[in-house]
Amino acid sequence: MPLTPVLTKRFGTDQPWKIANYERLDGYAGLRKALTIAPDDLIAMVKDSNLRGRGGAGFPTGMKWQFIPQDDGKPHYVVINADEGEPGTCRDLPLMMNDPHALIEGIIIASFAVRANHAFIYIRGEAVHALRRVTAAVKEAEAAGYLGRNILGSGFDCRITVHAGAGAYICGEETALLDSLEGRRGQPRLKPPFPATNGLYDAPTVVNNVGTLASVPGIVLGGADWFKKMGPEGSPGPNMYSLSGRVKNPGQYEAPMGTTLRELLAMAGGMSRGKDLKFWTPGGSSTPLFTKEHLDIPLDFDAAVKAGSMNGTSAVMIFDEDDCVVRATKKWSEFYKHESCGKCTPCREGTYWYVGIYDRFERGEATEEDLDTLLDLSDNILGRAFCALGDGATSPVSSSIKYFRDEYLAHIENHGCPFPGARTLAGAH
Ligand SMILES: Cc1cc2nc3c(=O)[nH]c(=O)nc-3n(C[C@H](O)[C@H](O)[C@H](O)COP(=O)(O)O)c2cc1C
Ligand code: SF4
Repeated sequence: MPLTPVLTKRFGTDQPWKIANYERLDGYAGLRKALTIAPDDLIAMVKDSNLRGRGGAGFPTGMKWQFIPQDDGKPHYVVINADEGEPGTCRDLPLMMNDPHALIEGIIIASFAVRANHAFIYIRGEAVHALRRVTAAVKEAEAAGYLGRNILGSGFDCRITVHAGAGAYICGEETALLDSLEGRRGQPRLKPPFPATNGLYDAPTVVNNVGTLASVPGIVLGGADWFKKMGPEGSPGPNMYSLSGRVKNPGQYEAPMGTTLRELLAMAGGMSRGKDLKFWTPGGSSTPLFTKEHLDIPLDFDAAVKAGSMNGTSAVMIFDEDDCVVRATKKWSEFYKHESCGKCTPCREGTYWYVGIYDRFERGEATEEDLDTLLDLSDNILGRAFCALGDGATSPVSSSIKYFRDEYLAHIENHGCPFPGARTLAGAH
């Protein structure tokens, strides 16, 4: 069935990031309509659409907006999480580069709905190209009267500040992001209280992902029922899957929520080396691995959980039969050790020990006791860490042992990697 792009419909057109081109293709029509709707009705519309946050956890967006207390006399804020640090994830950056006004339009609508007059876009500092593009788009929107005072004569004021983060994975965690935005070291805050009541500068704050807010203008224009027609009812809408690894044409593929890997591989030209699929991540390295048994699992928030993983960021990293799962998991564990903020013991110490043990596997010194220790460490991190970074670190470890225990044992028996000259995408031997 041919797919009609929604999120990427302007990609590939002539300079889609320019406001004139954006306006030509429905741009800011959603905002014009939204400003005629009562804010509470807008929230109800987004709630009815069943839009779920694209940042990883899949939290219902309308419900999140509804949590913002009204008539509390405090300023409200909308904060956009554009940190995009999850390994394998590449969709917020392409979205901001190609269609920054879709994000800006979504932000203004969200701000109007939750009665916020100031929004912040937190982009990781390394992404200078995106910082420049989004900053230029904000200026264009200001000049056109979509931002600033009395937007389109509605009486609503809104401004956007674009902020460059210093580049730490933990600053994608929403409360660490808020601390970082306030000028402190980015470390997670204790929850509750949640950002909806005590967020930026202790005021009610909505934190949403780029893809979440870029989906909003379409909902306002097309209606909740139109949105729900795409994908499963509980987890609907268009989605961008990032495909990387052993796939012929890696990149971003838009498809409705609930698309399977088999379908995505068909869109991307199949496996790159003609080898069999071995393991893959459905939503970044923080989501438990899937194998070829999971080719037909619908990739949406509910079905992925039912099958033992998560939809996460829809970052599908694909590995074939010549890739070593122990080596790939070692590289991911090194990432978590490096990015652990150190605030809590299970994650700080656990990720350190993971890496030490994986080094033993690589040097051919590991024993079966080491395998037990990896599982024991995972048990002690999962559910005991202060934030989800620690939980995420256990995903590749536990799931790779669950599906590929024999491969770990082969490393022990072989005194090192059994793949002769094996190379993985995560790093060469
Ligand atoms: C370690 C860590 C990193 C995260 N990184 C991001 C990120 O880069 N972008 C993002 O939108 N959400 C990220 N999240 C999830 C956010 O905490 C939060 O759930 C999300 O921004 C909410 O937006 P949404 O409801 O629109 O999905 C991360 C979470 C954790 C624990
Ligand atoms: S789980 Fe890791 S990243 Fe999260 S607070 Fe603890 S040490 Fe920091």
